[in-house]
Amino acid sequence: MVAHLIEWPPVVPERYQLIYLSRLATEASPSCVAEIVRSARQRNQALGIGSVLVFNGGHFCQYLEGEAAAVLDLAGRIRADRRHADFTLLHQGVLSGPPLFGGCSLVYALCYDDSLDRLGQARGPQAVALLADLLPTLDREP
Ligand SMILES: Cc1cc2nc3c(=O)[nH]c(=O)nc-3n(C[C@H](O)[C@H](O)[C@H](O)COP(=O)(O)O)c2cc1C
Repeated sequence: MVAHLIEWPPVVPERYQLIYLSRLATEASPSCVAEIVRSARQRNQALGIGSVLVFNGGHFCQYLEGEAAAVLDLAGRIRADRRHADFTLLHQGVLSGPPLFGGCSLVYALCYDDSLDRLGQARGPQAVALLADLLPTLDREP
């Protein structure tokens, strides 16, 4: 008899979302962003994390979603990364519903105006909603 080995109800890992704003470190060059994007795409896929990274030449805004433990662990590593500074958490919390932004491991978008300044004023789920509105207007890939 193996019936007792199966946990019921099944434990479904909580889906989590997090969004922050930061600025490129004074001592870092914008050319480091290409390397961040390249390795983040591979790592996020392996971790089951979906992400959007917006860069305007000086500031970043990044949205992360996935299993809570994976998102929080990654956010801790990103926060400690010396290629950026002034890490400001805009929102974190449980994500209900389907993945936002198609669940892509990393959508990279360039922003040419002051939209990130306005996003930086938002807090809570409103920050995610503003990013969702902004994204279709940006130069992004994929
Ligand atoms: C703005 C910014 C965004 C980043 N986004 C990610 C990401 O989405 N996924 C990722 O694995 N690393 C990302 N990184 C890199 C991480 O900070 C870190 O270097 C990487 O996860 C490797 O961590 P480790 O050196 O502790 O192994 C980002 C770094 C910066 C500066």
